[in-house]
Amino acid sequence: MKKGDYLAQHSMMLAFISCLMAKEIGIASPQINQKLTYASMLHDLSLTSNILESIQESETLEDSSLSWQEHKKYKNHTQDILEHLRKTSKIPGDVEDIINDHHELSQSNNIASKKSPSMISQLNALFALSDEFCHQVHFKDEINLDLFRIHWDDFYNHYNKGNFKKPLECLKKIVFNKIDLS
Ligand SMILES: [Fe+2]
Ligand SMILES: [Fe+2]
Repeated sequence: MKKGDYLAQHSMMLAFISCLMAKEIGIASPQINQKLTYASMLHDLSLTSNILESIQESETLEDSSLSWQEHKKYKNHTQDILEHLRKTSKIPGDVEDIINDHHELSQSNNIASKKSPSMISQLNALFALSDEFCHQVHFKDEINLDLFRIHWDDFYNHYNKGNFKKPLECLKKIVFNKIDLS
């Protein structure tokens, strides 16, 4: 994979982490893995690596150095990709639903529809949590788990709600090396 291609690296990492979490919480199947992989490859596709990295650099959308056009693009990126998906019947419908919820409860932006964490399905919560984790640990071709562990308690308390609870316990095992990733 090309160095500096944040979007490609992020999408691959998200497919790996979300499928691993699905396996660990006992909901994995070929169909679930396919949906999570489609969602991983498509969810941020209307964005550029530069936009994604500048949000990671500043930690929040509001503090980022994005131009107003990039800011708007980011705010609309979920709806933009959903519009494309509605024109095709080749992608399973659940993938749209997973993508629609992928920023619910996010710590780094304010663009979700703010559904109750108990109203989000287990699968969608798992994906949204995996996405936030993958963004928070990944910057400039590096995965920095040490830094993430320092903020773990805040992250845990923020996500320990509704259908996020079960995948969160699984993520805890990943972050603190209780799951063999090899
Ligand atoms: Fe996104
Ligand atoms: Fe993402």
